[in-house]
Amino acid sequence: MKTLTVDLGDRSYPIYIGEGVLGEAGSLLVQARLTGALAVVTDSNVGPLYAERLSRVLGDTPLICTLPAGEEHKRLAQIEWLCGQFLEAGLDRSSAVIALGGGVVGDVAGFAAASFMRGIRFAQIPTTIVAQVDSSVGGKTGVNHPAGKNTIGAFHQPEAVVIDMTLLQTLPGREARAGLAEAIKHGVIADAELFAFMEEHAGAIVAGDPRALERPILRSCEIKSAVVAEDEREHGLRAILNYGHTFGHGIEAVTEYKRFLHGEAVALGMHAAGVMAEALGMVDAAFVERQRACLTAYGLPVTWRDLPVAETLALMRHDKKARGGTMKFIVPDRLGHVVQRTDIAESDVRNALEALRA
Ligand code: NAD
Ligand code: GLY
Repeated sequence: MKTLTVDLGDRSYPIYIGEGVLGEAGSLLVQARLTGALAVVTDSNVGPLYAERLSRVLGDTPLICTLPAGEEHKRLAQIEWLCGQFLEAGLDRSSAVIALGGGVVGDVAGFAAASFMRGIRFAQIPTTIVAQVDSSVGGKTGVNHPAGKNTIGAFHQPEAVVIDMTLLQTLPGREARAGLAEAIKHGVIADAELFAFMEEHAGAIVAGDPRALERPILRSCEIKSAVVAEDEREHGLRAILNYGHTFGHGIEAVTEYKRFLHGEAVALGMHAAGVMAEALGMVDAAFVERQRACLTAYGLPVTWRDLPVAETLALMRHDKKARGGTMKFIVPDRLGHVVQRTDIAESDVRNALEALRA
């Protein structure tokens, strides 16, 4: 087992990573001060697979709350339901929540923990690649509003993150590949060696070989932890984690979140950002081709022939991260390094979207 620390002063917390660490979750969570009555929040796919195993290692029988699986259930109504369950079971300010599931469960359970009794402790046991390389670390929690994704939420850091790669064995292949887009993203923004590893070991990683998966998960958590430690509330640096996301969010919105998984939209967005960077003279054609080939090796999309350029552009302008209509882009200037730009001409953005139709 490897242990990392997210360095946030007296709110610092450990990330435990290894094969089979779920079996040690009981003692790891006690070490992380998660004592008192526990509520495990999971979903209707993950619960039947792993909730009983987790209950056994936690000792005292925890309350198990099972949300319906799926992004469409990441709603405020679930927070009210969860808080009702916590109250009925007698949870109080000394209790804690354990999120067992993907990013949806982590975001909803984390926000319930942030809200219940004005904030109780929680831990993350992520079960998807998205959650293991990204969402379980960093303390962003929340739900969607019909008018916008992730528009209601809170920063609430967990007390511990327990990452067991063996839980990924039951994850559907498409979900796994989409999650790996975020690990490739971490390579492009911060670590050329991680990117090269992702290129070289695509076969073993896509096949779910835990030995091949360890490095992308570990490095992703290290990169994300370092960024969060420096800029917890996204006043500056943390925005680099949104590489590919300005285009990606536009694509998700224009398809009403139905056609592409988030990681697939991010892959399209990364390719568009690469093409745009080349047009701006920030990277060369070899960079764009290398990134394209790597995303493709993971079965991720880099083209969408029917992309409605004007509508996507309009939605990108209204994204919650676009301030006063100014779009912010994270743009590579070499492999392993990105810069933030708010000065990109709309014609360059449009051309990059056009390139996705090719
Ligand atoms: P998800 O939680 O919906 O999980 C995807 C699907 O896989 C679901 O059907 C789920 O039930 C199933 N599943 C999960 N683990 C499984 C397992 N081990 N075996 C079998 N099935 C399993 O989606 P996700 O991709 O994990 O997360 C996406 C969400 O994460 C989005 O809502 C996004 O906004 C959020 N997110 C948050 C952050 C953050 O920093 N808080 C970062 C990235 C993404
Ligand atoms: N996934 C982006 C962030 O956590 O800031």
